Amino acid sequence: MEIKELEKLLSEMSLEEKIGQMIQITGSMLSVDSLITGPTETIEISDEMLSMVGSILNIEGAEKMREIQKNYVDKHPHHIPLLLMYDVINGMETIFPIPLAQGCTFSPEMVEQAARISAKEAAASGLHVTFSPMLDLVRDPRWGRVMESTGEDPWLNGVMGKAMVRGYQGDSLNKEYNISGCIKHFAGYGLPDGGRDYDNVEISERTFREDYLPAYRAAVEEGCRMVMTSFNTWNRIPSSGNKWLLRDILREEMGFDGVVISDYSAVEELICHGIAEDGREAAKLAIEAGVDIDMVSSVYVKYLGELVKSGEVEERLVDEAVMRILKLKNDLGLFENPYKDSSIENEKLLFACQEHRELARKVATSTFVLLKNEDILPLKKDGEEQLAFIGPYSDTVQLYGSWSFPTKPEQTVTIKQGVEQKKPGNIFAPGSFILDEEQRAKCGVRENYTKEELSARMDEAVEAAKRADKIVMCLGEHRYQSGECSSRAYISLPENQLELLRRVYQVNENIVTIVFSGRPVELKEVSELSKAVMMGWFPGTEGGSAIADVLFGDAVPEGKLTMSMPRSLGQIPIYYNNFMTGRPNKTGNPAQPCMCYVDEHTTPLYPFGYGLSYTTFTYSDVSLSQTEMQKEDVITAKVTITNTGKYTASETVQMYLRDVKGSVVRPVKMLRGFEKVTLQPGESKEVSFEIREDMLRFYNIDMEYVSEPGEFYVYIGTDSATENMASFRLIKTEGK
Ligand code: BGC
Repeated sequence: MEIKELEKLLSEMSLEEKIGQMIQITGSMLSVDSLITGPTETIEISDEMLSMVGSILNIEGAEKMREIQKNYVDKHPHHIPLLLMYDVINGMETIFPIPLAQGCTFSPEMVEQAARISAKEAAASGLHVTFSPMLDLVRDPRWGRVMESTGEDPWLNGVMGKAMVRGYQGDSLNKEYNISGCIKHFAGYGLPDGGRDYDNVEISERTFREDYLPAYRAAVEEGCRMVMTSFNTWNRIPSSGNKWLLRDILREEMGFDGVVISDYSAVEELICHGIAEDGREAAKLAIEAGVDIDMVSSVYVKYLGELVKSGEVEERLVDEAVMRILKLKNDLGLFENPYKDSSIENEKLLFACQEHRELARKVATSTFVLLKNEDILPLKKDGEEQLAFIGPYSDTVQLYGSWSFPTKPEQTVTIKQGVEQKKPGNIFAPGSFILDEEQRAKCGVRENYTKEELSARMDEAVEAAKRADKIVMCLGEHRYQSGECSSRAYISLPENQLELLRRVYQVNENIVTIVFSGRPVELKEVSELSKAVMMGWFPGTEGGSAIADVLFGDAVPEGKLTMSMPRSLGQIPIYYNNFMTGRPNKTGNPAQPCMCYVDEHTTPLYPFGYGLSYTTFTYSDVSLSQTEMQKEDVITAKVTITNTGKYTASETVQMYLRDVKGSVVRPVKMLRGFEKVTLQPGESKEVSFEIREDMLRFYNIDMEYVSEPGEFYVYIGTDSATENMASFRLIKTEGK
């Protein structure tokens, strides 16, 4: 439709019809099976209004979707189609590794391909919008939702967010299998006090702009068509009622012209937050702040009409919001074809098809982060070595993360299946349960077992360990211990699994441990008791085959951590790009007053960017094309990297910058470039990065986004702890 036709349509719609577009309901309100991801109360809505709502969330399946769409369009006064939305976070039917793991690939190309496949399967199922990418910066692993983010680096999150948006949306929404992305959760949801989901967020405006906003901004610039508000407050104002955030920052400063949707019931929750007296005030605050769609709350449906009729809310605000929604529908081509790509045939063709599974396997192998390896990995495929796979993850389909609702668990390749296919004849023993007896995971998931059952499992595993030459311990959190509303006060592995590891260690020290989790976990003891440790995260549908590929050396680990792995809970929050203090920790000796603990190191167990390979790489010194920079100059920074080991492998070469002196203190390091290179044994390659003045900008003392002259360090190395550096001076800048 031409824009003029859309405007005509809008002018012909009644106020009720327009408000209908601004309401989102769950499928359960239409009496169809629907996933409920928020409070279970249904909203009060008349049948007449029900037939005019603009969108539905969290239903799937081409047959059902087509039927719902057909009934709806037929009855709607102007035959406006519905928008159908869902949380396709790790994939639809083919489940990819969780986003935190995808970040560890340092491969935006792979992340884009994974998003593309997720979009294809989602579109086949009838969906038009996915609630992804989640671009909240995360620094506290207690928060359960760190699994949905790509990590602790503001710039890297933006790079990955852009890749996801490209994967979902392609170059035009109405083309085959393209769906809209939705940036969330705007803004600053990633730092709730104490890591408790939904709790207050306290971030200064400077930190908010400098560290928290850039990733959302990057995805807006990539053209993402929807933004979701966050549950949290910023500056003591909940996002869904924060006009400054949604109108001044998002629309004015960032130039976002798409649809803003609230998070689930967040508009109504303005009452609970204590900034609205009742639903009527909540509706007024939210529309004035700029919320276009009220996701599953009773507020717009009940009060928006009377607020407009009484003149308390300008109808213009409703018109603007509805126009944005209609435009999205139009750009998706729904007025011409309300079913878009949904068909049972497409589902059959695409769902977990060979091509998708192959990519899921490739992506998963690239997400594993090898943290330690004392000459035990890779395992030998041929020969007599007896292997025992011990632990509750050694033979389970539960290898996918939270938000994998649409998949069928039986699609998953277990570790047992994966390794037996490569090298049959291994021993498998669960040895323990995932959760401790008193532990509950989200949704009240609890494993019921007696002490005798646990002890029988452990005894069996210890016997297996005695018979084996090498042991692969498959341990981890429950998949529902991370995700929404799954914050943890302890981030260690469940005690019954640690006990299992200790007992196995007593009889056989040849231990490789693979850790499955949705967050960085405390690994000090695991690391001490294992010759090798690898993060498997939640690897998805092809998890078992990917683990087997890496264990047996058919693929070489190449993942790099995108969240620092703390030594202990007390170090949290811990992130690499922190600040120099007046008394930095130079000696690590608390006898000299400095920034340190008396009972723990200040450094993490494994830093951001860290990850080993089966081969070794050496880096040359950093060389710079010039050591003085004028504003227009581009400096090229170079290193030569050499594969000095025995395996062909990939390494992510990372470039960090440090602004030595600013009008406000600057981070000790900031990731500003990376390149993944694959080298054969003995091969060398020169890797270069460009440094431009705009990469040096920050919010100065007057909150202007500028660079300041002075010295800059350029670090290039294998992780954020690298000291391999050179320096240059920025000579002159002329403001913005
Ligand atoms: C979550 C969102 C999600 C929405 C819809 C909310 O509870 O915070 O991330 O997209 O539910 O399922």
